[in-house]
Parts: sequence; C-alpha cells; structure tokens
Amino acid sequence: MTKVVTTPDELRAARAELTGKVALVPTMGALHDGHMTLVRRAREIADHVIVSIFVNPLQFGPGEDFERYPRDLEADLATLAGAADLVFAPEVADMYPVLPPRVSVTCGEIATLFEGAIRPGHFDGVATVVTKLFTLTAPDVAIFGQKDAQQLFIIRSLVEDLNLPLTLEAVPIARADDGLALSSRNIYLSAEERKAALALSRLVRAAEAAAPNTAAVLRAVADNRADLDWDYTAVLDHRTFAQIDESFSGEALVMIAARVGGTRLLDNTIVHLRAGE
Ligand code: PAF
Repeated sequence: MTKVVTTPDELRAARAELTGKVALVPTMGALHDGHMTLVRRAREIADHVIVSIFVNPLQFGPGEDFERYPRDLEADLATLAGAADLVFAPEVADMYPVLPPRVSVTCGEIATLFEGAIRPGHFDGVATVVTKLFTLTAPDVAIFGQKDAQQLFIIRSLVEDLNLPLTLEAVPIARADDGLALSSRNIYLSAEERKAALALSRLVRAAEAAAPNTAAVLRAVADNRADLDWDYTAVLDHRTFAQIDESFSGEALVMIAARVGGTRLLDNTIVHLRAGE
C-alpha cells in the first residue's frame, strides 16, 4: 500500500514509522520510465521507498515553464502504486510558507556554469528544495538520474560539503527506443522536433565511439555538424567539472544541451579516456 502525504508534519510522522533503510527519490512528477528506473533502484537497495512529487518554483526562472510544466498527480500516484511506500506531494505553500524563503542554499561557481549560465539561480533553487527534502525525509540514500549531470554534481557537493548524513546513488540515463534521453519535457516536442532532437543522442554515441582516445572525443564533439540551436557541448573532467584538453586521461563527462523548438533538452555520457591513444 502506498501512503500519500501532503504536509511536512504528516511526512515526518509517516517517516518516523519506517524502520530499516530508507531511500528517497525526489521528482517533479510527470513520471516516466526514467523516474521508474530510479524507483526500482531504490526498491533494490532499501527497505522503504519515499518518492517526492513537487514542482519547485524556486528552480524556475522568469519566463521558464513553471506554469506549464506537466502535472498529473493522479496518474503519478497510479504509476507509483505498489512501487513506492510513501509519496510526499506538497503544495507550494506547504514547502514554502514564506516565498521567497528567508534562508536558502546558494551554490558556488559551479552553479553559474553551463545550465547555471543559462538558468541563473536554478541550482540554488534545486539545492534549497533538495536540502529541505533531505531534512524532512531523513533518507539513508537518495537516488538521482545521471541525465541531469550538473545537478548530480552539485548535489554530491552539497552532501559532501555540508556533511549531510546520507549517501547518493546515480542511475544511468533511460532512453526511448530511438535513443532520445527520457525527460518529462519530451512531451512538448512535435513529431518533427523529436526527429531533430535525435541529434543529441547521436552526438553522445559519436563521443562514445571515439573513446578512449581523448583527442578523438574532443574532435567528435567539436566537429558536430547537427543543425541544432546548441546551448553548449562540453567535455569535462568528471571529478571536477573542469574542461579537459588532449592531455587528459581519466573519467570524462560529455555534456550537451540544445533547444529544439521551444524545448531545452540535455544529454550526456561518461567515457573513460586516455591521452594519446
Ligand atoms: O531533477 C528534478 O526533477 C528536480 O530538479 C529535483 C531534484 C526533484 C528538485 O526539484
């Protein structure tokens, strides 16, 4: 039986009844199979699974899609029936009695790069809500998708830098049969746009095919000819988020973002590189 609560007080009371290992899967709802891979992973590694569903206004900038972000709580609860033990689905006023909050989390320089350069304040909003969700649910482990690679890096930094008492688990990107990374925003794409969007996963595959040679991966990403409105195509040191050059050996993150019609899409892959091979 999946229990649904909507207020922080109800959540704390329900959490207090859970013994054993607790996993949290934070989401903004509009659940698709990508989310369910996180929920299934949570089930594998924990005794109890909590899923939060909250479209967090703090992480949307002016003119972004906060109002039109897909919301269907009834469908999400049907999807989660039996898969989650506890669902936390608060209203904005439950999460933020004072909005904007008097105190919030600010991230460092990393939050101003890539996604953060395009969406100023986005990661501070994410870090603030995630900190609140961690405090309210006191999970032993929290599960995030690799798809939002910069978000994952920032949440790892949040947990490490603030000594938060939980571990993080990252789950690989779930893809549709045509290769497109699953995202709640894919529903905005027309059939034509969806075809164009496949350029992202093609570029990811080209980078993977060029690995492990560092120079070849950098070339594959730089030579990308797909006619898309790219926000960035970057190859980074996965441990530090610094841009790499041809002398780099180690785990690299190829991280890309583009606009297709009015929709921003992200994709990435992790490749093991060796300089000069
Ligand atoms: O990745 C998301 O869906 C959101 O950024 C998160 C982590 C649930 C915070 O609102």
